[in-house]
Amino acid sequence: MRYLLVIFFLIFTFYSPLFADESKYSSNDTLALSKSQKKGKLLFLHYCAHCHGNKGGGDGFNAEFLDKDPAELSSQKFQEKISNKKLFRVINEGGAKVKKSHLMPSFGSTLSEEEIWSLVAYVRYLGGWKIKVKVPKKLNTKRPNNTAISKADIDFFSRWFSAEGTESNLIKVGESLVINKKSCLGCHQLNDEGGRVGPNLNRSGFNYPPAWIYTWISNPQTFRPNTKMPHLNLSPKEARAITSFLISFEPDNEEEGSDLADSVELNKYLSIKGDSKRGETIFKDPEGIANCAKCHLVKTDGGSVGPVLSFIGTSRTREFLLESIIDPSRVITSGFNTIMILTKNRKFITGIKINEDESGLYIVDKNGKELHVPLDKIKKSKVQKISTMPGNFKDLLSTQDIADILAYLETLTFSLMAPSVN
Ligand code: HEC
Ligand code: HEC
Ligand code: HEC
Repeated sequence: MRYLLVIFFLIFTFYSPLFADESKYSSNDTLALSKSQKKGKLLFLHYCAHCHGNKGGGDGFNAEFLDKDPAELSSQKFQEKISNKKLFRVINEGGAKVKKSHLMPSFGSTLSEEEIWSLVAYVRYLGGWKIKVKVPKKLNTKRPNNTAISKADIDFFSRWFSAEGTESNLIKVGESLVINKKSCLGCHQLNDEGGRVGPNLNRSGFNYPPAWIYTWISNPQTFRPNTKMPHLNLSPKEARAITSFLISFEPDNEEEGSDLADSVELNKYLSIKGDSKRGETIFKDPEGIANCAKCHLVKTDGGSVGPVLSFIGTSRTREFLLESIIDPSRVITSGFNTIMILTKNRKFITGIKINEDESGLYIVDKNGKELHVPLDKIKKSKVQKISTMPGNFKDLLSTQDIADILAYLETLTFSLMAPSVN
C-alpha cells in the first residue's frame, strides 16, 4: 500500500505539468490581445501566414509546396515543447541555424528585436496560452540598419560577373545555397519544386539582369521596404554565387523555359531603335490607345492596378519588358494574379487581390476600383491564367510605338544602378 502511494506520488509529480497545463491554455477566442500581440498579429499575417496559416495551424496556402511541413504553431503539443527563448531564436536566426529545416527563413535582419518578441507573444496567443510572455528589458525597437549597397559594390559586381560569373564551380556553390542551405525554395519555385510566395525563378536568366539579382537578394528592403522577402543576410560571396546559379539555370521542362526571345517576332521590335520621349508620351497619354499610366505608377504619377514601374529598366531585361507588353499573360508578376469570384447571389467579380483578412478579400478591378468582398458572400474563387493587363497591344500599337515604349521603360532606372557611362 505504501509503495502504491509512492508510485502514485511519483506519477503525479511526473505528470503534474500536464495537469497544470490545463489552466495555462484557453480557447484563444476568449483571450484579449495585448498591445504587443496586436503588433505581432500584423507581422504574422504579413510574413508568416502564407506558410503557417492565418491561425498558425501549419496550413497556409504555400504549405503544400514545401518538402517540410511548417510547424503547427497553434497546437498544444508544439507550445509545450518550446520555450519563449527558443521561439525567439528560430524566428531570429531561421531553421538552419537551430537544426531545423532551412525552409524556415530568418527574420533577424529584417525585423527589430521588439517586433520578433511581439511575434513570440502572438505565437503564444495562437496556442491559447494565457500566461503573459515576459519580454527582456532594453529591447532594440529599431529594425536592423542593413548597409545599403553602394554604386561601387554594384560596379564591382558587374566587372566580377563578366570575368568569373559563369564558372561552373561557383554555379555549384550557388546551387547548393539555393537548394539546400538558404530558404529560397520556401517561397520560390525552381523546376517544379518550391513555394509560391514569390516569383517562379525558372526563367531568372531571361527576366533579370545579373546586377539586379545581386543587389535585390543582398538587400530587398532597399527597393521595397515592405516586401515579404526577408533580408537574408547573405555575404557578398554568397550573393554572387547565387546570382551565377540563377542566371545559368535552365529548367528541366522545356516549355517552362521557352523564351519568346528566340523568336523572330521579338527581334522585329528589338532591332529597331526606339525614341524614349515619344514612348513616354504614348505611355502617359490618357486619351491614347495604350494609356499604360492608367494602371502603372512611375515615380509619382499613375494608377495602381499593375506593378510600380519606377525602376523597371533596372530590374528587368529588355527582352522581358518587351514580352510583358506583347504577351502579358506569359509571366504574371507575383502578387498580381487575376482572380475570379463567384458570389452566392451569382455575380462574377474579377480583379487583383490586394489583401485578405478575416472579414474577406480586398480586390482592385481593371479600372482601379477597390472592392471589399465579404468571405460569407463568396461561393467560389479561382486564380486566372490571364493577366488583367490587356493582351492585344501587339495589334493595337505599331511596331514603332512598341519600340518607343520599350525605350522609355529602359530609362526608368534605380539611381544607384543607372549605367555609369554617358
Ligand atoms: C516559407 C515558409 C515559412 C515562412 C514564411 C515562415 N516559416 Fe516558420 N517554419 C517553416 C517550416 C517549414 C518550419 C518547420 C521547420 C522544421 O520543423 O524543421 C517552420 C518552423 C517554425 C517554428 C518552429 C521551430 C521549432 O523549433 O520547431 C516557428 C516558431 C516558426 N516557424 C515561426 C515562424 C514565424 C513567426 C514566421 C514569420 C515571421 C515564420 N515562421 C515564417 C516555414 C516557414
Ligand atoms: C519568405 C519568402 C521568401 C524567401 C525566403 C525568399 N524570397 Fe525572393 N521573393 C519573395 C517575394 C514575395 C518576392 C516578390 C518581391 C516583391 O514584390 O516584394 C521575391 C522576389 C525575388 C526575386 C525577384 C525580384 C524582383 O525584381 O521582383 C528574386 C530574384 C528572388 N526573390 C530571389 C530569392 C533568393 C535567391 C532567395 C534565397 C536566397 C529568396 N528569394 C528568398 C519571397 C521570398
Ligand atoms: C488595365 C491595366 C493595365 C494596363 C492598361 C497596362 N498594364 Fe501593364 N500590367 C498590368 C498588370 C495587372 C500587370 C501584372 C500582371 C502581369 O504580369 O501581367 C502588368 C504588368 C506589366 C509589366 C511587368 C512588370 C513586372 O514587374 O514584371 C510591364 C513591364 C508592364 N505591365 C508594362 C505596361 C505597358 C508598357 C503598358 C502600356 C502599353 C501597360 N503595362 C498597360 C496592368 C496593366
